[in-house]
Amino acid sequence: MASRSQTMVVPTDAQLLKAQADLWRHSLYYLTSMALKCAVELGIPTAIHNLGGATNLPDLVDALSLPANKLPFLRRLMRLLITSGIFESRKNNTGVETYCLNPLSWLLVEGVEAEDHTYQKFFVLGTVSRHYVDASLTLADWFKKDLSPPLPSPFEELHGVPLLHEKTARLDEELDTIVREGVAAHDNLAMGTIIRECGEIFKGLQSLTDCSSGGGTTAKAILKAYPHIKCNVLEKPQVIHTAPTDDVAADIFKSVPPAQAVLLKLVLHFWNDDDCVTILEQCRKAIPSREDGGKVIIIDTVLGPSLGPIMYEAQLLFDMLMFVNTRGRQRDENDFREIFTKAGFSDYKIVKKIGTRGIIEVRRGLPEHRGQRERGLGGVDPNLGSPPPDPARNWAKGPASRRDLTMDVEEKDSGGEEMGEKLRELTLWTEAIGLHCWPPPACHGDVGDDRQGAQRCGGWVTGLSRPRVA
Ligand SMILES: C[S@@+](CC[C@H](N)C(=O)[O-])C[C@H]1O[C@@H](n2cnc3c(N)ncnc32)[C@H](O)[C@@H]1O
Repeated sequence: MASRSQTMVVPTDAQLLKAQADLWRHSLYYLTSMALKCAVELGIPTAIHNLGGATNLPDLVDALSLPANKLPFLRRLMRLLITSGIFESRKNNTGVETYCLNPLSWLLVEGVEAEDHTYQKFFVLGTVSRHYVDASLTLADWFKKDLSPPLPSPFEELHGVPLLHEKTARLDEELDTIVREGVAAHDNLAMGTIIRECGEIFKGLQSLTDCSSGGGTTAKAILKAYPHIKCNVLEKPQVIHTAPTDDVAADIFKSVPPAQAVLLKLVLHFWNDDDCVTILEQCRKAIPSREDGGKVIIIDTVLGPSLGPIMYEAQLLFDMLMFVNTRGRQRDENDFREIFTKAGFSDYKIVKKIGTRGIIEVRRGLPEHRGQRERGLGGVDPNLGSPPPDPARNWAKGPASRRDLTMDVEEKDSGGEEMGEKLRELTLWTEAIGLHCWPPPACHGDVGDDRQGAQRCGGWVTGLSRPRVA
């Protein structure tokens, strides 16, 4: 065997000490989760709230009815939670430390009457539950096992039942309740922000089907802001509830009640790619053409580092949560594009990013029977007619035929002066008629690598598969 030379990186003294501290942090982060669980179980956020939003340690021990000899231990617990950003502390002028709530611990206060408050206790208790933690402890074994698809999650493999399923309660009724309440609390958080920041996606809609709506809170919030919308709520028969909407007990994999728009809020991240394609196909059948305003609205995590390392880390940790406990996953824009394409959609647009979530609109393109080839380069619609006359650019002449507007990828890649001229003509023509065209003719063939092009096309990404036209 050929010998390979190895270069060993020897850290400096400072790097070595930093590496050990980092090793401590990463090996011990689970203790932050457990300290958070302890704070929630003791009711520390609610106690601080009831003491006026700020308290010293002896008063907190009293309020929690803890034995006096636990005071020094509570101080150590609070010190970690403050350093981790879960509470805040101030010192008064005599040096006495006061513990205060911050926005995170505010979410853990019970009984707050505020529109945007969703009590997150059960989200915490679910994520650090024994069943979740036990499943995460089997990760290496799960990787080594030769399991046949569709792959069960480590949770399912260990406990024999999937999460959020009729069978989960048979494993542990309390876990099932905690997880359902935790998921509802998580999913309902920031619905007010979405309506305030991105309400235009619902404006002008006549009807909406909210798929897999859980407790119907999302539909209620939309109806409150837009009472004219006729809203269907699709849920499994076991979950269907009474809401100010038309409830439909149905299976999202089999049919979706027709509406001008279909909403999938935090639904797709629960399913694997094949399941998502089936769900999206049902949604596509339920909406009218793009001309009639038909669209699927997706509110889900859109993975990516653009929001900074803290948001990205949160997204990646949530992806691990989905990996360990469900068959679902968090997706980046490319992952979404792939499932949209497979489900027969041709256009999508990320309307806005709100926190870790993205709001995506997906629309039907050309009638399916015309297929991708007929869309021309990146989505040229043959029905759009001739370009408008523009004497300055001699547009009246226009392209002699649609063939003039299209080219093989090889032809495009071959470059050359003639090609450059043809690309310029294409770009100007498509812009002149306001055509949604992707990839923009003047950019290279790979979809998704030209943000400027997307902006020029109004943000719409069309012609989802790599164009190859006759
Ligand atoms: C994560 S929750 C969705 C939460 C909700 N969209 C929200 O934003 O509040 C997933 C929901 O999918 C529902 N569900 C699971 N399988 C389904 C099916 N085959 N058809 C319809 N709904 C289903 C579950 O009952 C559960 O309420």
